[in-house]
Amino acid sequence: MYQDFQAELAWARLHMPRTQKSIAALPNLTGVRLACNMHLDLKMAPLVEGLLSRGCEVFLTTCNPTTVQDDVVAHLVKKGAVAHAWRDMTNDDWSVSFDEALAWQPTHLCEMGADLTTRLHENVQKGKAVPTITAGLEATGSGINRLNGMTPHYPIFNWDDLPVKEGLHNRHMVGLSAWQTFFQTTHLTLHEKHVVVIGYGLVGQGVAASAKAFGAQVSVAELDPARALQAKYDGWPVVSLHNAVKTADVIATATGAYGVVSAAHLDAMQDGTFILNVGHVAQEIDVPYLKENASHSLPMPYVNAYSLNGKTLFLLADGSMFNLTAGYGDSLNAFDVTLAVMAEGIGHIVKQGAHCEKGLYLLPEDAWKSAL
Ligand SMILES: NC(=O)c1ccc[n+]([C@@H]2O[C@H](COP(=O)([O-])OP(=O)(O)OC[C@H]3O[C@@H](n4cnc5c(N)ncnc54)[C@H](O)[C@@H]3O)[C@@H](O)[C@H]2O)c1
Repeated sequence: MYQDFQAELAWARLHMPRTQKSIAALPNLTGVRLACNMHLDLKMAPLVEGLLSRGCEVFLTTCNPTTVQDDVVAHLVKKGAVAHAWRDMTNDDWSVSFDEALAWQPTHLCEMGADLTTRLHENVQKGKAVPTITAGLEATGSGINRLNGMTPHYPIFNWDDLPVKEGLHNRHMVGLSAWQTFFQTTHLTLHEKHVVVIGYGLVGQGVAASAKAFGAQVSVAELDPARALQAKYDGWPVVSLHNAVKTADVIATATGAYGVVSAAHLDAMQDGTFILNVGHVAQEIDVPYLKENASHSLPMPYVNAYSLNGKTLFLLADGSMFNLTAGYGDSLNAFDVTLAVMAEGIGHIVKQGAHCEKGLYLLPEDAWKSAL
């Protein structure tokens, strides 16, 4: 994906001054074994390099095999990280990576999606030996939803719900980068198109607002009555998904939930509908139904065309996180804030983790505000 990886990495470092400052303020990390389960793209590299330079040992796994950039993993391994992650690794290999990361005996976790904590939790329930984790960090809404259903065995600090994470990255960057990737991938714009955004969390709010800014007519489908009301107050028509799929030109899922776009929805869509997902899991859309019942072609990179009952549906990036799989995701300047907060969060779990009770906490303000 990168024309000149080293040049782009140097450019990323240059435009991430907050990250550099937060890394410089970290304590000596000798003795810290940090297992990171994250998107492994170029923008993550300045942080991981910085952690290694501070003496931290790092094990890298991915929260999504479709977003791994192999150049980035190779570079970080060269710098001293251990990794079990590659682009489009199979689900079996992906699952093994969680076991490998835990067998590596991490002392701390830095996660996007809670895969490692979930595996550790399952292992405890099966009576298997597990590493002693001092503390962890969780960066995503999907991860927080998973953690809410379990009692963690160590303190975990949620930083997805910080105003500097959800209010900036989730709200502003996902929509912008998703539509930018749409233009680059399809060579089409949103003019004259009816876009249905499913899910009106901070991500969906940004996806809807950006779509309007780029000329689309936008509707919102949301299950939660409070969020649906918020969408109405924001001026969006709130529609039932059952009806909206019949007239949508573009459908964007932004929920993090499973089975949102069902086989029945796919059957009801009109010819030429584009479907994209920006939520954490590809299973928001019933992709297996398309694979089993439709013929497939790839008219353009990342444009998966499925011919189903006399019509063609265009599933972008085959339902995986579109803005990160087919595009570059956040801008460097916006992700600099995210990464700096992550660095501050790592400092917090290293300094304070051992003094906290097990449980799920919001990362306290005094732990991250110096990132700004
Ligand atoms: N692509 C990216 O770069 C990126 C960046 C940040 C977050 N995310 C992911 O985006 C997803 C959304 O994040 P968020 O912070 O807005 O989450 P959120 O949980 O605040 O909002 C999700 C919304 O979806 C709604 N929803 C769930 N199932 C639904 C259904 N079947 N129909 C309609 N609405 C439904 C929920 O009621 C909720 O309001 C998460 O999976 C998150 O991890 C992606």
